[in-house]
Amino acid sequence: MTTTTLTEELIAIEDQYGAHNYHPLPVVLAKGKGVFVYDVEGKEYYDFLSAYSAVNQGHCHPKIINALIDQAQELTLTSRAFYNNKLGIYEQFITSFFGFDKVLPMNTGVEAVETALKICRKWGYEIKGIEENKAIILFAKNNFHGRTTAIISASVDPTARANYGPFLPGIKVIEYDNIPAMTEALQDPNVAGVILEPIQGEAGVYVPNDQYLPTIAQLCKDHNVLFIADEVQTGIARTGRLLASCGNCTCESRSKCENKYEARPDILILGKALSGGVLPVSAVLANDDIMQVIKPGTHGSTFGGNPLACAVAMAALEVVEEENLAENAYKLGVIFRERMQQLIEKSPLVIGVRGKGLLNAIIIDNAEDAEMAWNICLKLRDNGLLAKPTHSNKIRFAPPLVMTEAQLQECCDIIENTILSM
Ligand SMILES: Cc1ncc(COP(=O)(O)O)c(C=O)c1O
Repeated sequence: MTTTTLTEELIAIEDQYGAHNYHPLPVVLAKGKGVFVYDVEGKEYYDFLSAYSAVNQGHCHPKIINALIDQAQELTLTSRAFYNNKLGIYEQFITSFFGFDKVLPMNTGVEAVETALKICRKWGYEIKGIEENKAIILFAKNNFHGRTTAIISASVDPTARANYGPFLPGIKVIEYDNIPAMTEALQDPNVAGVILEPIQGEAGVYVPNDQYLPTIAQLCKDHNVLFIADEVQTGIARTGRLLASCGNCTCESRSKCENKYEARPDILILGKALSGGVLPVSAVLANDDIMQVIKPGTHGSTFGGNPLACAVAMAALEVVEEENLAENAYKLGVIFRERMQQLIEKSPLVIGVRGKGLLNAIIIDNAEDAEMAWNICLKLRDNGLLAKPTHSNKIRFAPPLVMTEAQLQECCDIIENTILSM
């Protein structure tokens, strides 16, 4: 007689009753603390995905959870039909944290992207003077900005798009990390904005040339076009700076913004780690000359700006600064890539490593076995480390930023031993 484990039972239930829009690694998690997660059988794992960089502050960070509990006992939601006593305080806090005049609060990342595109189009018509319905927004090839019909209209991933048409007009997709292509596209006077991920996360952690972002920011300025940075995944200390678009800014602390951006976006989009992975909280930041296009009734969200989200986001951002998470991500990132570089010398299976801070990926040689990256992730799971392949042969490694150097070295040992055993 065969016995089913709790893990198998729970996977079977999800399989039967849930839509199959994900293909998870077979592990069922029940608890998280700091850099660790625990499955229903009690096994401990290092989390090397951090819910796609939402849990930068570590699982169930006590300060964030306390803020959640305290606020949940007072007031959770009033809707924007009335004022609440947290929203203004949060707005003041986050705008000063990132150096912008105003914020528009939303919930999920894709809603914030959608909001930024709406603001950009409105700005294009009302301030730049683009003829009605002619505005164009430039996107980069291999982008990932979320899953709504508007956003997938700019995707080049056939799986994300198939049978979801018709798609949104007013979109042009150009090569990423290609300045001549951008320069040419910007000649069109109907271009209202350019939206970019400072590092393309879902595309396999593709880091553009150092000069790319500052040049694009300047080109946008020269052409009276808005530069929109989607930092939903790269923001909030993940890449070793408070924001990836800070580039080589000269701020003294990596975890605190003194508004010395190397490639300052006109519109900044944040999500994920804005709540430390506790609630869906996202935000669009811009200065008054842009945000002024938003008037009562032109955009909104029932949950956007709710007091619970405000309290959680303030605590989550405070943790980033108090615990110097960007400094830690920077330091550990250097060690991680050095260790992976050594692994490349030892194993023909690993053919590259790239990334910034603690957003990294290794590239696996899958010429002989298309499932190699997936199989490595299964073995990593057995050895106590959770990661997931992206774009078939890349494995993204993005642990919580509260990791210690000793823990990171142990994780590098696990990755090395696992790959050498394949
Ligand atoms: C760069 C980027 N933008 C937007 C999103 C969408 O965020 P959400 O899944 O919260 O809608 C993601 C999610 O992975 C992302 O990586």
